[in-house]
Amino acid sequence: MALTFASLYSGCGGFDLGFAQAGFRCIGAFDADPLAIQVHRLNLRSNAIVCDLTTTAPSLPERPDVLLAGSPCQGFSTAGTRNPEDPRNSLLVLAGQLAVQIRPRVFVAENVVGVMSGEHKRYWDSLRQTLEAAGYRVADVCCDANQLGVPQRRRRMVMFGSKQRADIQVRIPPQPGGVVSKVIESLVGLPNHRPVAMSKDSSTALIAARIAAGQKLSNVRGGPRSVHTWHIPEVFGRTSAAERSVLEALVKLRRRKRQRSFGDADPVSAAAIANHIGQPARQLLDALIAKGYVRQKPGSFDLTHTFNGKFRRLSADAPSPTVDTRFGDPRYFLHPSKNRGLTVREAARLQGFPDDFILEGPVRSQYRLVGNAVPPPMAYHLATFVRDLLLGSQ
Ligand SMILES: C[S@@+](CC[C@H](N)C(=O)[O-])C[C@H]1O[C@@H](n2cnc3c(N)ncnc32)[C@H](O)[C@@H]1O
Repeated sequence: MALTFASLYSGCGGFDLGFAQAGFRCIGAFDADPLAIQVHRLNLRSNAIVCDLTTTAPSLPERPDVLLAGSPCQGFSTAGTRNPEDPRNSLLVLAGQLAVQIRPRVFVAENVVGVMSGEHKRYWDSLRQTLEAAGYRVADVCCDANQLGVPQRRRRMVMFGSKQRADIQVRIPPQPGGVVSKVIESLVGLPNHRPVAMSKDSSTALIAARIAAGQKLSNVRGGPRSVHTWHIPEVFGRTSAAERSVLEALVKLRRRKRQRSFGDADPVSAAAIANHIGQPARQLLDALIAKGYVRQKPGSFDLTHTFNGKFRRLSADAPSPTVDTRFGDPRYFLHPSKNRGLTVREAARLQGFPDDFILEGPVRSQYRLVGNAVPPPMAYHLATFVRDLLLGSQ
């Protein structure tokens, strides 16, 4: 008899597909998003159910061997505002409370690594305590999808709870994940692959044309991987060599001469800039304020726009950055060699979804489903570990 699993916050089924591929049978999947459930049912041939888990307890035909919980990460993610009071954060703890009622033999929760830092950690700790109080042995581990068969850097925390008597020793042998070029070719004609060209003279196209593979638009980071707005005068306006030396000084000094104990940078005084460039800076700063590159603060100056992490062009010969819900937007991510964002199919491949996994609904929602998913190959390797745990060989 196949081992069984059920899934809370199942989304379109990335986590679930990996378990299914490892031989587990899905006996229930629950998510509040009707489109996610539609895609889950279509691809996993499941009887997934639309369900708001804050108001409705999931109903299962039998006790599952494994319960999965990939709860929302937006409140914990460093890509967002990281509000410790984001109401979605408590959905993580709710998963533990539901596990106590459902009593699976093994419980597996996944979330972003931001769940381990600052005030947010109380949710992860509370989940652990809820499971331990119900008699589960608990262990957690930080996994990188690129070490678990996925051509993408995606670090995630995974918590295992098990009713076995022995402590859990998490041992998941690393699996090479490869690089972008492994999956980003030969897509013509595939479903969900509709490249969107940029309009030729748009500022988005002009910026993209200046960003090489592995680079991003950023005014607040230095080095060869950052392209600054003053390198793209056709969009952001011309500057003189002396003005650019002030801007480069600001990039360096705002991080080097930090004054506060929080944040990673501070505005810089005109005197410090003058000292760095070896000539008076005030007139140059005034010119840069007029051009919109610099803003004045009390007694100091800073760059007007950070642009950090925008227009990030993937490198064909490196793993992809974390696939998120913005992967189709060229203002965030660019194809390694073409001036456009990534298609849904490209994003899905970088997540390790097979080409016969079909995304439905509005294109924006398809990116959301793909970006929110646990990469199926990563889930597969977690499932292999869980199977061994259940069968007693761990
Ligand atoms: C990170 S995504 C899950 C991704 C999924 N584990 C996968 O691998 O594809 C979080 C999911 O939680 C769902 N969700 C948010 N609030 C919910 C609630 N109150 N009840 C049920 N599902 C909810 C969202 O619709 C979303 O699909």
